[in-house]
Amino acid sequence: MTEKPVRRFLLIAGWTTASLLLAACGKPDVPANAALTPAGGPAASTAPARVYVVGTDAAYAPFESQNEKAEIVGFDIDVVKAVAHQAGFEVKFVNTPWEGIFNALQQGDRDLVTSAVTITPERRQTMDFSQPYFDAVQLIVVKQTSKVARFNDLKPLKVGVQTGTTGDEAITKLLGKTSPNIKRFELTPLALKELEAGGVDAVVADNGVVSNYVANNPAGQFKTVTDPSFTPEQYGIAIKKGNAELLAKVNQGLAGIQANGTYQALYAKYFGSASSVGIAAAAASAAAPAASK
Ligand code: ARG
Repeated sequence: MTEKPVRRFLLIAGWTTASLLLAACGKPDVPANAALTPAGGPAASTAPARVYVVGTDAAYAPFESQNEKAEIVGFDIDVVKAVAHQAGFEVKFVNTPWEGIFNALQQGDRDLVTSAVTITPERRQTMDFSQPYFDAVQLIVVKQTSKVARFNDLKPLKVGVQTGTTGDEAITKLLGKTSPNIKRFELTPLALKELEAGGVDAVVADNGVVSNYVANNPAGQFKTVTDPSFTPEQYGIAIKKGNAELLAKVNQGLAGIQANGTYQALYAKYFGSASSVGIAAAAASAAAPAASK
């Protein structure tokens, strides 16, 4: 990214100054919904909305993936776009490898990370999170012929996970960090392909992604297995630790899209059933049928 040094400087200069500078020395991405900005639009006297760079590992359908036109799409993307619109800022999504995604946030190369990120106590030590916006739980996927009926049955088997995910944490606890039976992949779809090819016996990943994959790959002859021992998880939007201003904006946006029904409409679009209750409750009702709460 050629604008990096500029961005670094802007970060030091502070948010307000940053938008003024952007207005003065460069053309900020003109928002598609500019017409929706208050009367008069982005006039010379009004600083244009700041464009925040959002990192996402776009190989995690239906939360984030790339379509045929290489556009980044998905539930997380729609939610963050709606949050941004609600809170009055602009966003630009950048496909970012999962393994470096939190580092990019820390370095200031990304302002936000939306990537079906589970809020965990360990992650909270190095980053801040928005209010939770989705409930999830781990789900095991195996071939239909498999005898696996619970998590413990994976003990003697080869298991594929995406490196550094909560699925990785779960299997690491069961098999031990250095177990040769854990096959770690850069992307969740690579682990699933390996299951299809017979290179691993099972994959452990977030329920929404696993269910989506199984539904879309009937030829793979997969089935899913739940286990009550999996800890209920919640997704949050990650923000650089200490950036209270952006955190407040994001939370304000999230509350707004929940209050005006946008969140529920997006939920229904991706997961099939609308709900008028709270974000966490709406997510829980369809995303974690067996093992949550
Ligand atoms: N929810 C899991 C975690 O936070 C997996 C997220 C992976 N997301 C992705 N886009 N690859 O560890």
